[in-house]
Amino acid sequence: ELGRVFAGEGYELHLVGGPVRDAVLRRRVSDLDFTTDARPEATEAILRGCCQTVWTTGADFGTIGGLFRGEQVEVTTFRADAYDRVGRNPIVRYGDSLEDDLQRRDFTVNAMAVSVPGHEFCDPFGGLGDIARRTIRTPAAPESSFADDPLRMLRAARFAAQLGFAVEPATLDAMRRMAPELSRITAERIRDEFVKLMLAPDPVVGLRLLVDTGLAAQFLPELPDLRMEIDEHAQHKDVYEHSLQVLRNAIALETDGPDLLLRIAALLHDIGKPETKEVAAGGGVSFHHHDVAGARLARRRMRELKFPKADVQAVSLLISLHLRFYGYGEGDEAGWTDSAVRRYVTDAGEQLDRLHVLVRSDCTTRNRRKAERLARDYDAFEERIARLRAAEDLRAV
Ligand code: CTP
Repeated sequence: ELGRVFAGEGYELHLVGGPVRDAVLRRRVSDLDFTTDARPEATEAILRGCCQTVWTTGADFGTIGGLFRGEQVEVTTFRADAYDRVGRNPIVRYGDSLEDDLQRRDFTVNAMAVSVPGHEFCDPFGGLGDIARRTIRTPAAPESSFADDPLRMLRAARFAAQLGFAVEPATLDAMRRMAPELSRITAERIRDEFVKLMLAPDPVVGLRLLVDTGLAAQFLPELPDLRMEIDEHAQHKDVYEHSLQVLRNAIALETDGPDLLLRIAALLHDIGKPETKEVAAGGGVSFHHHDVAGARLARRRMRELKFPKADVQAVSLLISLHLRFYGYGEGDEAGWTDSAVRRYVTDAGEQLDRLHVLVRSDCTTRNRRKAERLARDYDAFEERIARLRAAEDLRAV
C-alpha cells in the first residue's frame, strides 16, 4: 500500500534490512524499515499525506518515520555513508541506487531488499545463501566495513547470539585485528549493542566471540580476566566457564522473558575474583571479599557504559548478594537451603516477614548488618527475587 503511494509520486520503495532478514528466517518482524530514492523532504511530504503521525527525529540521517495504518514505518533515503573517522557519527551522503544502499550495510543478511509493490527480491551480496549457511559476513571487505563503523564488530557478535549464526572466518579475523577501533565508539552505542546481545536467546555465543576477539577487553576487561589459570590441584574452578554456566542457569530460571539485570549480574558475579585471588604458602587459593570487589567493579563498568543509575544499583546489589537468594515464604521452611540461614531468620524476629534475602549463609555481625540494610532497600527487587525462589540453583553448577 505504502509502495503504491510512493510509486504514484514516481519514487521507488523497498523493504530493507532487519524485516527482510527476519521474514526469511520466519522470525517476528518488528519495525518496517524502507529505503527510497526520494529525498527526506519528499518522503516527509508523502508520509504526511498518508500517515496518522509523522516523526522527523532521524531526518538528519535521511530517515522519516510514521504510523501507517497502525504500523510503525521508517523510510530512509538511499545512502552511501561516508563515516567521519575522527568523530563518532556517520556523515550522511545519499546513494544513487538501491545497490549503493545495500553495499554500505553491515552484513549480507541485512543487505537484502524487497521492492514494494513489485515484490522484486534484491540480494546482490548473497544474504540468502548466508542465511542458509547460518553465517555472518560483511558485504564489502570486512576491514573497510569495520573502519567505517567499528560498532559493527559488536553487532556481529550480537547477531551471532540472536540468530545462532557463526561469524565467517575473514570477518572474524578482521574483528580480532580491529578490536581496538571500538574505542572510537560512544559508550551509549556500545551499551545498546551489549544489551541486545545479553537479551539474545543465547548470549554465551556472543560473549565468547567478544572475549575471543579482544572486543570485550575494550569495554569490559574484567570478563576476559576471568580466564585465570586453573591451579594444578584444580582447587578452584575455571571462573570464566563457571560464569558463563551461571548465566545459562539464570536464563533457564526465567519465567517472564529475559531479565537483563539478572543476566548481567550472573555473568559478572565473580568478576572480583582475579583481583582478590591469594595463594597461600600451602598452595590453597582464597578470594576474600571478592563479592564486594565484584560489585564495585561492576558498578564502575556499568557507569562507564552509561547504564541508568537504578540498573547499576540493582546489579551491584545482586552481585554483593552473590546471587544467593534464600526463598522465604509462607511457612515454607523446607525452602530454606541452609540451617545457618534459618537460625539467622529466627534471630531477626520482627523482620521475618520482610527478609526474603540474606547476604551470606554465615551470619557474622558484619554480614547481618549488611543483610538488614539490604532488606530495607529490598522492596524494589521484590518482584525479581520472587521469581528466583529456587535460585540456589543459580550457583549449583
Ligand atoms: N546498519 C548498518 N550498520 C550499522 C547499523 C545498522 O549497516 N552500524 C543497517 C543494517 O542493514 C540493519 C539496519 O541498518 O539491518 C537497521 O539497523 P538496526 O535497526 O540497528 O538493526 P536491525 O537489523 O533492524 O535489527 P534489530 O531491529 O534487531 O536491532
